[in-house]
Amino acid sequence: MIYLDNSATTRLDDHVLEAMLPWMQGDFGNASSVYALGRKARVAVENAREEVAHLIGAHPAELIFTSGGTESNNTVLKSAVHESALARRIAIGATEHHAILHPTEDLNRTGTEIFHVPVDEQGFVRLSEIANLKQEGLLISIMYANNETGAIQPLSAIREALPDALLHTDAVQSFGKIPFDVQALKLDFATLSAHKIHGPKGVGALFIRKGIDFKAHQQGGAQERNRRAGTEPVALIIGFQAAARAAVKEMETRTATMLARTQLLRSLLEASVPNIRLNTPLQNSLPNIVNISFPDAEALDGEAILQSMDIHGIAVSNGSACVSGSLQPSHVLVAMGRTDAEAKAAVRFSVSKDTTESEIRSAVEALSDIVTAMRS
Ligand SMILES: Cc1ncc(COP(=O)(O)O)c(C=O)c1O
Repeated sequence: MIYLDNSATTRLDDHVLEAMLPWMQGDFGNASSVYALGRKARVAVENAREEVAHLIGAHPAELIFTSGGTESNNTVLKSAVHESALARRIAIGATEHHAILHPTEDLNRTGTEIFHVPVDEQGFVRLSEIANLKQEGLLISIMYANNETGAIQPLSAIREALPDALLHTDAVQSFGKIPFDVQALKLDFATLSAHKIHGPKGVGALFIRKGIDFKAHQQGGAQERNRRAGTEPVALIIGFQAAARAAVKEMETRTATMLARTQLLRSLLEASVPNIRLNTPLQNSLPNIVNISFPDAEALDGEAILQSMDIHGIAVSNGSACVSGSLQPSHVLVAMGRTDAEAKAAVRFSVSKDTTESEIRSAVEALSDIVTAMRS
């Protein structure tokens, strides 16, 4: 199989698995237990917290471990409104992930004002709209980089426009791929996830700036300084630490590889698949994503393209979701002004540090054959 869907998830690295195994076998203690086995797990979790916090410019006390990006996003939004009473209104980008969109729909039903900040045709939030937002009681949540197109949002400019609002970013796709520093970006909250950087699924983190009176959304035991109840999954946290360390340490070389692959991909696509539109901006985008669509999408079937690629052994995706048996166009591409038909028939390639040149060549050949056959 040729795996070009690394924005969906990545392969667990061998060294990450090796780091995790002892914590699933002999060192299986509960980090809250007082005897030696528990204390050993506690030390490991706190070391991981220190290292991951350090990698994003945070203090360890500012980081809680969660089950991943979805939980961190839900927690920020819901706790900010309900448990912590920090926000009365929320602004989000029109191209946010469903883990932001759906909880805000829920909050809206219970009376919280929600604003959707529109994006331009390249997917960047319109700063002129942000400058008009009323800052009092406002939480603004804008993803650092988009999971479908790779567009990197101008977080510094957003902070400059809204110095008094609470600022959250979903950094799930960007962490480990581009430099990320919560101090430099003057963030109040940030969401991270391990499985997009060759770490395990089911673990992530939430950065909560020191001084914010943040109350738990998930309640139970006193773990994570009373900010997230639940027994810490030690092995997953250790895996997250190992993956994050490697991603940041090797960022330059990984980026160079991924950029070389996406540049080759773009040039081969342009040479061999006529009439395509690039939805990934050429500047200010992640090194690993190329999203294309077809202006003549009426003649093409998005689902069939992905299925035919699968038959060729190639895993790619698009942002369209299947809801009750029918394909819904990608809300990201629709927000960027694409037609519903075009937004249904997009293809997202997302490479990793391990993607080879020959995999890229095979994928483009397959897509070219599939689209040619469909058009004729
Ligand atoms: C931008 C973004 N946010 C949040 C998530 C959800 O993260 P997780 O799978 O860790 O819950 C994803 C995963 O696809 C994502 O791409």
